[in-house]
Formats: sequence, C-alpha cells, structure tokens
Amino acid sequence: MGLFLSLERSLALMLISLIAACTLSDCYDPLDPNGNITVTFDINQWIPEGYVARVTIQNYYQYRHVDKPGWKLGWTWAKNETILSMAGAFATKQGNCSSFKFQTPPHSCEKSPVIADLMPDALSENKPDGCCHGGLLAAWAINPSKSFSSFEMTIGNLVTNPNVQAPINLTLMAPGPGYTCDLIEDTDPSVYSDIGGKRQLQAYRTWKSTCTYSSFVANQAPICCVSLSTFYNPKITSCPTCSCGCREADKNTVSCIREGYSEPESDSFDNNDIVQCTDHMCPVRIHWHIMTNYVTHWKVKLTISNYNYERNYSNWNVVIQHPGFSQSTTAYSFNSTMLPSFGFSDEVALFWGIEYYNDELLYAEEDKVGAVSTQILLRKDLDSFTLRNGWALPRRIYFNGEDCQMPLPDTFPMLPNVSSSLKPTNPVFLLCIYLTFKRLFT
Ligand SMILES: *[C@@H]1O[C@H](CO)[C@@H](O)[C@H](O)[C@H]1NC(C)=O
Ligand SMILES: *[C@@H]1O[C@H](CO)[C@@H](O)[C@H](O)[C@H]1NC(C)=O
Ligand SMILES: *[C@@H]1O[C@H](CO)[C@@H](O)[C@H](O)[C@H]1NC(C)=O
Ligand SMILES: *[C@@H]1O[C@H](CO)[C@@H](O)[C@H](O)[C@H]1NC(C)=O
Ligand SMILES: *[C@@H]1O[C@H](CO)[C@@H](O)[C@H](O)[C@H]1NC(C)=O
Ligand SMILES: *[C@@H]1O[C@H](CO)[C@@H](O)[C@H](O)[C@H]1NC(C)=O
Ligand SMILES: *[C@@H]1O[C@H](CO)[C@@H](O)[C@H](O)[C@H]1NC(C)=O
Repeated sequence: MGLFLSLERSLALMLISLIAACTLSDCYDPLDPNGNITVTFDINQWIPEGYVARVTIQNYYQYRHVDKPGWKLGWTWAKNETILSMAGAFATKQGNCSSFKFQTPPHSCEKSPVIADLMPDALSENKPDGCCHGGLLAAWAINPSKSFSSFEMTIGNLVTNPNVQAPINLTLMAPGPGYTCDLIEDTDPSVYSDIGGKRQLQAYRTWKSTCTYSSFVANQAPICCVSLSTFYNPKITSCPTCSCGCREADKNTVSCIREGYSEPESDSFDNNDIVQCTDHMCPVRIHWHIMTNYVTHWKVKLTISNYNYERNYSNWNVVIQHPGFSQSTTAYSFNSTMLPSFGFSDEVALFWGIEYYNDELLYAEEDKVGAVSTQILLRKDLDSFTLRNGWALPRRIYFNGEDCQMPLPDTFPMLPNVSSSLKPTNPVFLLCIYLTFKRLFT
C-alpha cells in the first residue's frame, strides 16, 4: 500500500500549496483576474456654471455581485462644485447650502458627497435609463443586463468659464468595505447609440476609474466551508473546525454571534450574523457528495446550506474548480455556465439558482438549516477519471465570490482497502490491487 500512501501524500502537498498561494497574501482573484467595477463619468452637456454628467457603475466581476443594502459611491470635489440636481440616485446628505440665496436649493453642497441608489419603485420625476435598482448589481457572467446602474447629475458653482476637473478619492462601498478605486482619469469619450442604433452620440468628456475587491482590505472573516462525502466510504469529512471562527465553549448554545467585517464604523453597515452554532461557525456550508459511478458518467450531489438565523442570500452563486468540468456537465436544479479558466489546468464552473425556484437561499430555523441542492451529471474522460486520491473531490469552491475553507487532503474520504485479508507483499501484488481498483472504480 506504500505506493498509494505516497501518491496521496504528494497530492496532499500539491493541494496545500495550491491553496496557500492565494490566501496568505492579498492577491487578486486568479479565477477572475480581469474582474473590476468600473465607474464612468460622462459629461454630456455644458451649462453656464458647470455641466451635466451621467455616472455609470458597471460590474465586470464574473461572479461577485453587489447585494443588499446596495452600493454607495463617494468622492471629493476638486473645486467648489455643488450638485444642483440629481436623477436616478440621491446624495445621502445635503450639507451646508446656506450660501445659495436666491435660487432653488442645490441637491448637495457636501465637499465629499456620498451617493446611494433609489429603489425601483421610487417616484423620481425623470428616471434615467439604467437607474434605480436599489443599489444591486448582478454578476457579469450571470446577468449582464442587470450588472450596471446609472444616474444623472447637474453640477454647478464653478464660476464662469468652467475649467472642469475630475473629482478625487473615489470610494465604493458594495455594500461593505473591500473595494479600492484608482485615480479618476480622462479617457476616450464614451459613445452611445440612439434611434435604435442608427445614430451615435458622443460624450463631451469621459472620466473613468476602476475599483477592485480584496478580501484582505474587506477584512472579512471567511463565510463558507466545504464538507465532503462519497458513496464508497461511510466517512463524512466535515468542514475544518474553526473555519470561520470558533464556537463558544458551551456546546449547548444553539445560536452564536459571528463577527463579520471588523470595521464597525464603516457607514453603519452592520454585518454581525446570528448563526447556528457549529464547530466550523460558517454562515454557509457547501457539501460535495460523490453519488454514483456509471460506466460513462459520474454523478455528484451539491448542497448549499445557510446557517444564518436572520439572513437570506438572494441571487447566490457558487464557483467550483474541478478538472471533470472539461467534459459535458448537466446540473439538474441550478443554472450553470463554464468560466474561462485563464490557463489553469482545472476547469471552472459557475452555478446559481433558478429564478423563483431556488435563487433565494433561505435562513435557518430552530433545528434545520436553509438549503438548496442539485445533482450534477458529468461525463467521464476515461483517460483522467478516477476515484483514487480524491481526484473526484473539488479543488476550490467560492460562495458569492468568497473563497471557502477546504478540508485538508489527509481527511478526505479515501477508497476503502480492497480486503484486509489481502496483505500485499510484493510489487506484483500491488499491481493486482491496482488493476482491481481500476476495474471497479473507473
Ligand atoms: C475592467 O474590466 C474590463 C472587463 O473585464 C476590462 O476590459 C478592463 O481592462 C478592466 N480594467 C482594468 C483597469 O483592469
Ligand atoms: C471656492 O469658493 C471660495 C469662496 O467662495 C473661493 O474663495 C475659492 O477661491 C473657490 N475655490 C475654487 C477652487 O474655485
Ligand atoms: C455654512 O456656510 C456658511 C457660508 O459658506 C458659513 O458662514 C456657515 O458657518 C456654515 N455653517 C456651518 C454650520 O458650517
Ligand atoms: C484623498 O485620500 C487620501 C488618502 O486617504 C488623503 O490623504 C487625502 O487627504 C484625500 N484628499 C482629499 C482632498 O480628501
Ligand atoms: C427571507 O425570505 C423569506 C421567504 O421569502 C421571507 O419571509 C423573510 O422575510 C426573508 N428574511 C429576510 C431577513 O430577508
Ligand atoms: C439560466 O441562465 C441563462 C443565461 O444567463 C438565462 O438565459 C436563463 O434564463 C437562466 N435560466 C433560469 C431558469 O434562470
Ligand atoms: C486500510 O488498511 C490499513 C492497514 O491495514 C489501515 O490502517 C487503514 O485504516 C485501512 N483503511 C481503510 C479506509 O479501511
């Protein structure tokens, strides 16, 4: 059996180094290296003391969406700009407008305004296109048509002959901290189509900034973990203990408070969760069960469980990296798509709920958790498929864009011994066992 053990060990080391490469330091997400949220200011009209601009927030993250309570965008004006009016969003504070005497009061005189989105049912007299989604932005790979938000603002108080300057220090809460925005810079003017695409309009001037997420900046505790089981071994590998925090010593407590973001002052965004007490303390657990081994296919059951007592996850998504996704894959109860794998050898699949059926991952109640699940049927690539060495287990899983804690390979459910009475003594024997395994399980 030495051969199997050493194979297992080398696989274990490989997996550990793969995982460590990206959780120790603050590095970008290797599964979505081009992801960002781009903020564009298009000046479409000059007015005597300022301009009219359309601001668009576009989410280019493949599987990171902006959830309730929605985005908040802030910046600092370079000069004495004032927001005279706004449509499709609102500034959270009007600020000190007392120097504006004989005119309609401006919308906001703050030096550093913070803008929030209107709800879809808002009674705004003119709603610009793409506005009013309550601050929600869908992930790009899931619903591009809902992945952006726009609003319009009229900027004044720039004295005569406005020599306009882009705002500085753009900040994006989406909804919590974690995003860092570049300098706002001049770029080629945006071009829009009009009259059903027959006419092109061009902005007078366009400023752009891209904001990128880092879980290190967000300073967020892990939110999910992975557990594993198989049909060939009764052992269930549970989530690593303390994956998302450690439970209270008193094992009889049913509900635990889990601290979320460690920046409580951040815009009064309260992210403490009340979760069911478990050894892993994660609000979300993802379970991968290898169900069946057919001749040409194999089947997995994927279950996503919500341990929060008060929080539903709307429009949840799960990313799974596994070499088996290179073959045709059918998920029965989730919607799914393949993502570009950016040179990784293992394919990456994205799963999300079906609208009105299971796109809402409900909160936990007294003694049961909220859960959604699907069976996934994968075709076998007969050259690579095997049940040995945990090959059929996932390499990496994300929930809503956050990396989930995987169990260590030495706890994986392994193929059972063929028979304890068969004591392998020489290489020929090993070969026999190997061939038996191959026949039985591939
Ligand atoms: C932002 O994302 C878009 C789409 O993936 C990409 O074209 C663009 O280069 C990205 N911007 C930056 C600065 O990375
Ligand atoms: C802003 O307004 C103040 C007072 O009205 C004026 O003194 C100052 O020069 C203005 N700053 C700019 C950059 O226009
Ligand atoms: C508001 O602004 C005016 C003039 O710009 C200033 O005199 C007044 O002190 C300000 N009020 C407050 C509360 O800051
Ligand atoms: C912009 O942000 C930097 C870093 O937070 C800060 O030092 C600087 O004072 C800010 N500038 C303005 C004008 O607020
Ligand atoms: C969660 O969803 C259920 C069912 O749609 C709803 O009744 C409940 O109010 C939601 N809870 C929260 C905290 O959003
Ligand atoms: C599944 O996703 C595709 C692509 O985004 C979409 O067209 C389709 O409507 C979705 N199906 C369901 C049931 O949500
Ligand atoms: C396989 O056999 C070895 C040696 O007898 C034993 O230590 C190990 O626990 C067995 N593994 C399983 C999964 O039964």
